[in-house]
Amino acid sequence: MQQGTTLFFGTLAIQPPLLLAPMAGLTHSALRTTILQCGGVGLLSTEMLSASRLPAENEQLSPYLIRTKEERPLSYQLLISTELHIPKAMERLHVIGADAVDLNLGCPAPQVRKAGGGALLMEEPQLVRRIVAAARRYTCLPLSAKIRLGETLNQEKLHSFCRMLEGEGIDLLTVHGRLRSEPFARKPHWDWITKVKEWVKIPVVANGSIDSVSSARTCLAITGADGLMIGRQAARAPWIFAAIARDLYQASLPEVSVSLPAVYRHFARALADRFPPERQLGRLKEFTHHFAKNYPFGHHLASQVQASSTFNEAYERAAAFFLQHDPGTAAAAFRATSENHFA
Ligand SMILES: Cc1cc2nc3c(=O)[nH]c(=O)nc-3n(C[C@H](O)[C@H](O)[C@H](O)COP(=O)(O)O)c2cc1C
Repeated sequence: MQQGTTLFFGTLAIQPPLLLAPMAGLTHSALRTTILQCGGVGLLSTEMLSASRLPAENEQLSPYLIRTKEERPLSYQLLISTELHIPKAMERLHVIGADAVDLNLGCPAPQVRKAGGGALLMEEPQLVRRIVAAARRYTCLPLSAKIRLGETLNQEKLHSFCRMLEGEGIDLLTVHGRLRSEPFARKPHWDWITKVKEWVKIPVVANGSIDSVSSARTCLAITGADGLMIGRQAARAPWIFAAIARDLYQASLPEVSVSLPAVYRHFARALADRFPPERQLGRLKEFTHHFAKNYPFGHHLASQVQASSTFNEAYERAAAFFLQHDPGTAAAAFRATSENHFA
């Protein structure tokens, strides 16, 4: 099947139609620039941002808002539980220079549910209607919503929810093909994304367990989606967008052999350069948890970094792992010992 190579999202033309998923603790400036270096991503994202706290965040200091000029187009995801927070949150996003806004209607995390946001909102369509209507009123930016399939597979309920979102002015709908309670180990219901695609006229982006060129191809064939969103695999293999863009969307990106140590080093350096010291180690650990899966003995890398109490210790342990398990490329990536220090 020939897929469209451009996704029209409000005023944005996204090419290729490959989107980075919002992921708390992962989708920040360091990961975004690492992905940009590899190429192939059409739309970047922040992690979820509390709409109530956003107006008070300083974009030069907040780890959630720090970004470089290259990170564009960038969508900001709002975690929101009432329409009352919309006006100030939108005002702030306009000042910051957001390229698009996404509403989080699918996060199943218990603490998010407790705060009245995320997937819980799918059970409150009237509240969501008010939130979306307010969001539409207060911004002209491209506006998207990200949903799961709900509490149970209920066609009527999901249909009316998606049509309501479209009717209130959502420009693009991302569907993570799992129910609220389904863990990642469960195969996603891509066939339900197909249904959503048939119900609405706005572009639909498919999400859930796309982790290779072949799964991307299968997901597109099943869903007929207008684009794909990739989460965990973006942290394990930041070059996945480039690989899919080349194969499925005929993007003319050069084929380069990936040096895992060099990718890791780029990510760690970006963290060290842009984030306050107390915000670096946790983010390195979170990324390493995913990235380590590239190695047969990756659990050693993950546990070594996990057990570190400073950023430099973690980085040095990672460098030692790479030198042992990937000596050729690691030597080039970590040339001088002094470069192992970010103090
Ligand atoms: C560590 C982590 C954090 C996440 N944080 C968010 C978030 O902030 N907002 C959101 O809408 N979804 C969040 N998600 C869900 C992802 O955006 C995505 O829907 C999910 O991981 C499925 O895609 P994947 O199989 O490509 O990872 C998170 C997922 C993970 C693994």
